[in-house]
Amino acid sequence: MKHISVLLNESIEGLNIKPNGIYVDATLGGGGHSLEILKKLDKGHLYAFDQDTYAIGKATERLKDFNNKTLIQSNFSFIKEKLNELGVHQVDGIIFDLGLSSFQIDDETRGFSYLKDYDLDMRMNKDATLTAKEIVNTYERQKLADIFRAYGDEENAWKIAGMIIDRRPLNTTLELVEITDIANKGMKGHSAKRVFQALRIEVNKELEVLEKALKSALELLNIGGRLSIITFQSLEDKMVKSFYKTHSQMDYPKNIDIRTFPKPPLKTITRKPILPSEIELEHNSRSRSAKLRIAEKQS
Ligand SMILES: C[S@@+](CC[C@H](N)C(=O)[O-])C[C@H]1O[C@@H](n2cnc3c(N)ncnc32)[C@H](O)[C@@H]1O
Repeated sequence: MKHISVLLNESIEGLNIKPNGIYVDATLGGGGHSLEILKKLDKGHLYAFDQDTYAIGKATERLKDFNNKTLIQSNFSFIKEKLNELGVHQVDGIIFDLGLSSFQIDDETRGFSYLKDYDLDMRMNKDATLTAKEIVNTYERQKLADIFRAYGDEENAWKIAGMIIDRRPLNTTLELVEITDIANKGMKGHSAKRVFQALRIEVNKELEVLEKALKSALELLNIGGRLSIITFQSLEDKMVKSFYKTHSQMDYPKNIDIRTFPKPPLKTITRKPILPSEIELEHNSRSRSAKLRIAEKQS
């Protein structure tokens, strides 16, 4: 299935693009957001990252008419290091559209889908070594349960972890689904949804890399530069919300004229997250859990 970009207009408008500016798409995917940025650039340049070689290949083709772009196959946790290597130290806007592209979910050989039977893999970067299979076959019960609870909010985490250990070795997605079907019998939604989300976060270290990338993004932005971040699950949204909050507050000494003090580094532009419209939801059910938060560097 083709990837339909989520909150496309809202997130691009949020970047306040200057035709001569330098922009970064941290999650290139199918190139949908990158394409809109490039259309708005004149002398400006776009640097786009994806850790998935397949995404880089697809987007290279889609963006072939534009010369003012550099596509980089890398985890976005190295955004600052990679840009610095290219001589880029300051940028005017960065977009993150987190999670997976439709083509990753739909390709059963990647093992992301609990609806299709394939090897338990779930790596966004095929060169990485840790797979979901290794996690379910080697982690201790406590560690497995902690991951299912923390990253998936799975009520039956301890039970599922025990069943996995009894059933080892596990090789395929549907072998894991057989376990969650029993453990979560009668519960609302797909029995494996939370466990699959948790494994994917652990395999790709999604929270750790986002935390590092947010810090780098703040350092890279010029004054007036914007951050536009789309999340699809609550742990990431919480991290972005709290990052914006922390950096848009300052502890001023009492009885001081705050106008004489430096402003906090960020100004949050969206007090509440922007959600997909009814029309977008109708058109693209995968936008269901999306939340967009925008902030501006101000000092
Ligand atoms: C939701 S898709 C982006 C779709 C894109 N905005 C579009 O409109 O076509 C997310 C992409 O980010 C990539 N990705 C996720 N986490 C990443 C990370 N830590 N480093 C680099 N790429 C990442 C995934 O491989 C995927 O291709």
